[in-house]
Amino acid sequence: MFARSAARALQPSARLFSSSASRNFKVAVLGAGGGIGQPLSLLLKNDPLVTSLSLYDIRGAPGVAADVGHVDTPSEVCSFGHIMSEVNGYAADQLDQALEGVKVVVIPAGVPRKPGMTRDDLFNTNASIVRDLASAVARVSPEAHILVISNPVNSTVPIVAATLEKAGVFNPARLFGVTTLDVVRASRFLAGVTGTQPSECNVTVVGGHSGPTIVPLLSQLSHGKSIAGEKYDALVHRIQFGGDEVVKAKDGAGSATLSMAYAGAKFANSLLRGLNGEKGVVTPTFVKSPLFADQGIDFFASNVELGVDGVEKIHPIGEISAEEKKLLDACLPELKKNIEKGKAFVA
Ligand code: NAI
Repeated sequence: MFARSAARALQPSARLFSSSASRNFKVAVLGAGGGIGQPLSLLLKNDPLVTSLSLYDIRGAPGVAADVGHVDTPSEVCSFGHIMSEVNGYAADQLDQALEGVKVVVIPAGVPRKPGMTRDDLFNTNASIVRDLASAVARVSPEAHILVISNPVNSTVPIVAATLEKAGVFNPARLFGVTTLDVVRASRFLAGVTGTQPSECNVTVVGGHSGPTIVPLLSQLSHGKSIAGEKYDALVHRIQFGGDEVVKAKDGAGSATLSMAYAGAKFANSLLRGLNGEKGVVTPTFVKSPLFADQGIDFFASNVELGVDGVEKIHPIGEISAEEKKLLDACLPELKKNIEKGKAFVA
């Protein structure tokens, strides 16, 4: 009895693993030495769909790669960075090498928030970092799927899109802003107030990834529907501004890193499952989207079905409550501004 059920339990992962082995799922992490990059690299090393990991950072990548490389999973780990020559002190950059042959590029490079900062305050530093990394992807691995974590996501994703577009290689099916942390937080917080399990509270979060642009669709879940009044307002506020709790608690040492690494690895796994041919993989992500394009908002997070070529289907937001309509009305103008700012930076 035990042997039979154990064998059955093993079947799906065995199938997944053998089919993945025939595919190239080389994943690069750009910014691998950072607060997110390090635990994210570890979690990706533990993902059976990842065949090879390419860890790049302007500092610290060799240490992370040596460390993560000892984990006893099959994927290979290589590090790339700035190598200082002992002869002339010239720093040779290995970014292009890091990107050779990669299927998926995850970008957590850039500065995080300190207390009192909004994500938009990071724009000046992170915009050029993300643009330069996107240029390298366009040059070396134009077919790669790009997962943008660096903030402000509402602007950095349009920056990557415009950079790829300029290089003539933009494919909207292969560019994703990672908004999974909002989904993770929403599920966790909703489970907390309803005394249920997060697995029963899979909240769809739409819009963008900053304060009022984060729109949780609680009414679409039986557990979420029942929440009203002050309790509803407090829950929505916590989902929209949960990142501030972490920034405040870290007291100047950065923003969410561990939960973000978890969320980044979770999204990467969803994408890889889709690329691997699994059907029905649906999760919210910030992509080039037709949903509000008629209002000049051409990037938007909503449920997206992931398939062998990346974005397979963008789901509409579905039925929403009057409160959610108000949240959406507050989201759209702010999101539009953020997107335009990103586009203007590249233009
Ligand atoms: P961190 O400062 O700990 O790490 C950033 C890393 O990027 C550093 O190791 C740095 O050397 C590297 N870096 C800087 N310029 C680079 C370049 N040109 N090429 C390669 N690497 C480069 O910051 P942390 O905490 O890891 O955050 C990274 C980014 O992720 C921030 O912009 C932060 O706001 C964002 N973030 C996004 C979230 C989301 O939900 N999408 C959630 C939390 C943070």
